[in-house]
Amino acid sequence: MSKVDELQKIEQDILDLTQSPLYTHRTENKYFPVIGEGSVDARIMIIGEAPGKNEALTGKPFCGASGKILDKLLASIGLERQSVYITNIVKDRPPENRDPTPEEIALYTPFLDRQIDLMQPKVIVTLGRFSMTYIMQKFDPAWNEHISGVHGQEIGVQASYGEITVLPLYHPAATIYNQKLKETFFEDGQKLKNYM
Ligand code: URA
Repeated sequence: MSKVDELQKIEQDILDLTQSPLYTHRTENKYFPVIGEGSVDARIMIIGEAPGKNEALTGKPFCGASGKILDKLLASIGLERQSVYITNIVKDRPPENRDPTPEEIALYTPFLDRQIDLMQPKVIVTLGRFSMTYIMQKFDPAWNEHISGVHGQEIGVQASYGEITVLPLYHPAATIYNQKLKETFFEDGQKLKNYM
């Protein structure tokens, strides 16, 4: 099966996820699950938390206020958005933009795992603490760091397909009203130049 076919199968499995606590919220609001967007051959995978309203209405990741900040970061280093793959740990929108629950993270992350196994990115950029914690503990179950201590660090981990790098960044939404955090986000993100 081609990568595109495999990805379509993942998408169908998420569409069919009637047991999700977010499924009714999706259908009642005519929302889409947000599977991901970009190149299936990307070396860099960017993983956020969960879709917001704009994303759930369009099915596209990071197309609202947070997306504008992410786009600015990518533009600042000359990285084309289409050349990376952008997705989330939770594929449906939680009501009122609340944090995803541990149950939702447990339900949706097997789909993210399938995306990672399929695309085999060399670099995973995590946006925010939920994404960072899931990804780091996937590769190192004992890992237990706060994002304030590790943001911007290039962390080498062993994936099933080889050694890869995880780059934890703050979530762009956290930087909207915090100029200092925004500067840090842009500074940390420059590390991606090492992998282009
Ligand atoms: N925030 C996220 O974490 N993901 C999106 O797709 C949009 C906003």
